[in-house]
Amino acid sequence: GIDKKVDSILAIMTLEEKIGQMNQYNGFWDVTGPTPKDGDAAKKYEHLRKGYVGSMLNVTGVKDVRAVQKIAVEETRLGIPLIIGFDVIHGYKTLSPIPLAEAASWDLNAIKKSAEIAALESSAAGINWTFAPMVDISRDARWGRVMEGAGEDTYLGSKIAVARVQGFQGSNLADKATIVACAKHFAGYGFSESGRDYNTVDVGTSTLNNIIFPPFKASVDAGVKTFMNSFNELNGIPATGNAFLQREVLKDKWNFDGFVVSDWGSIKEMIAHGYAKDLNAAAELAANAGSDMDMESYAYVEELSKLVKENKVSVDFIDDAVKRILKVKYELGLFDDPYKYCNEEREKEVTGNKAINEAVLDVAKKSIVLLKNENNLLPLKKNGQKIALIGALAADKTSPLGSWRIAAEDSTAVSVLEGMKNYPNNTLTYAKGADVAIGKAEFAFELKINTTDKSEFSKAINTAKNADVVVMVLGEHGYQSGEARSRTSLDLPGVQQELLEAVYAVNKNIVLVLNNGRPLAITWADEHIPAIVEAWHLGTQTGNAVAQVLYGDYNPSGKLPMTFPRNVGQVPIYYNYKNTGRPSTDNPDIVFWSHYIDESNKPLYPFGHGLSYTKFTYKNLKVTKLTNEEVEVSVAVSNVGEYKGKEVVQLYIRDLFASVTRPVKELKGFKMVELEPNTTKTITLKLTNKELGFFNNQGEFIVEPGEFKVFVGGSSYTSLEEDFTL
Ligand code: IFM
Repeated sequence: GIDKKVDSILAIMTLEEKIGQMNQYNGFWDVTGPTPKDGDAAKKYEHLRKGYVGSMLNVTGVKDVRAVQKIAVEETRLGIPLIIGFDVIHGYKTLSPIPLAEAASWDLNAIKKSAEIAALESSAAGINWTFAPMVDISRDARWGRVMEGAGEDTYLGSKIAVARVQGFQGSNLADKATIVACAKHFAGYGFSESGRDYNTVDVGTSTLNNIIFPPFKASVDAGVKTFMNSFNELNGIPATGNAFLQREVLKDKWNFDGFVVSDWGSIKEMIAHGYAKDLNAAAELAANAGSDMDMESYAYVEELSKLVKENKVSVDFIDDAVKRILKVKYELGLFDDPYKYCNEEREKEVTGNKAINEAVLDVAKKSIVLLKNENNLLPLKKNGQKIALIGALAADKTSPLGSWRIAAEDSTAVSVLEGMKNYPNNTLTYAKGADVAIGKAEFAFELKINTTDKSEFSKAINTAKNADVVVMVLGEHGYQSGEARSRTSLDLPGVQQELLEAVYAVNKNIVLVLNNGRPLAITWADEHIPAIVEAWHLGTQTGNAVAQVLYGDYNPSGKLPMTFPRNVGQVPIYYNYKNTGRPSTDNPDIVFWSHYIDESNKPLYPFGHGLSYTKFTYKNLKVTKLTNEEVEVSVAVSNVGEYKGKEVVQLYIRDLFASVTRPVKELKGFKMVELEPNTTKTITLKLTNKELGFFNNQGEFIVEPGEFKVFVGGSSYTSLEEDFTL
């Protein structure tokens, strides 16, 4: 088997060659150009030729991948192939919706399919390994990276983590169309204080075990081959140097048999954290803590062999790390054929093909959430309506790609304006109204977030005056969320709020289409605007997806994976909060309870919220205890509206008294049901020990007898409730 093959290679490797496998470099020179002669690039190039590099990231395209692979295979002593990594976060050249948007579909098949096609397209470009899925749970919309995860809920997040891991990796890694997945960032990154990226994380044991860990554990159980550790410290120990996380929990308790890559430079950053006094100490701490591969810190390549010779890092740890890495390379089939992912023909045929575009359109439609629809303003009529389309984002062909679109070209998304033009029997006039942000490249920091230019207002107002319906596409530019894009405000950026109010003053028939990578506090809009559609950043097919939903060719079925606050001051806000000793009261005379004096505790839109063009009702909730370990929940769901539609039936529980306090509600099941008008289906869901238990503060999973509540409905503001005793 593979283990034997790995052992036989390990037996002939020098210490330096072993450490080389643990070293990952960024693509560092134009690989198809002249060889670098001096500086850092020359040094790295030399390392590559000596076999001191095990992996590279950000080398893309068959031509370039083949070039670096050739050096590793033909010029190094042992010819061990590289594993080529890349941030295939929501697609490669053809993009699916950002992960937060996809999570809003609650459609695990669609999410899996989206990862599958991302693997297909990227593997055809020579890539073997994606740094996805990000399975960090976060409750803080200020954090820019909420766009990259599945939102605030650990149950939904775990299911989505599994779907994405399975989608990327498939059932056989040696299949050309699959890539290795990476569960990241282990652990706690989503809980950075005040939502500021890279900030300190300090969380209690219960939150760590019950909220943060489960999606990582689910990824391990689904066979994920790699983990990435995290930039942040967790309770005083940087994640990269954290033996509790990487050895005790991940490798020992969860039996993870893949490898852990550091985050970019995170080994070296332990110096800035004040945890390692220099690079040598950082390498020692990281290696001993179980970080198997060093991404761009140069710590292992420069320091590890000294540390082994001084007995500060045991050779057993090195061997263990190398075995883990080589095993994954074997599983990918790289030892059998290092160029198996380097086929120009295949690359050409696959990149951006029709099937891929159809798949990303499908998941894009499913990711849209109808937040509000008064007076049935939506769907738009297909004939004879005068539509005014307003907002710079409506015509933008780059913003919809969202953050983390590093291989996709600028301006490759179908804009909303283009999508709307597919319905030619209406009159469509467009005015941009105001710019949101102007940025050239993802890493150009020239975004004008606070654009104050109102010179285009009057054109927009005139356009709106003459329209039957105004569609306004407002929100965040694609680069206003993502890594290092934290915000202190959750308002519409720039002058967009003013634009919205100015247009509203002349025409109240507004459909607000939101573009954003995080929940926004659009409280004024909710009070005034009759229809609001959450369209996130939906990727390459954005305009087609939005137009099909606005015109009713797709009946929206998405549900929010993250709570929308009324006001940024409520953040972190989430549905599965604890009751506290002073819970919410309706009595206005009570002062000393857990609340604000200037804002309600309630969110603007709760977790799980999402409407349809039809209407669903819930009846006959039945809870039957089958055994002491199994409870059956059934409910009748009816479509009482006029359209065929899909509904995500959500099941929540509350464990009323426990040895560790439990949240007021916890999602523990969901099922999507599709119903024709005037039909009813009975949905059955099961609760087992897995759903009824929790982790105590010793990290043990326990199920405690006692009273439970069951809630069922179409959002976390459920409609029906029953009790049972375990
Ligand atoms: O995968 C990413 C990670 O999420 C953040 N730092 C850089 C890595 C590689 O690009």
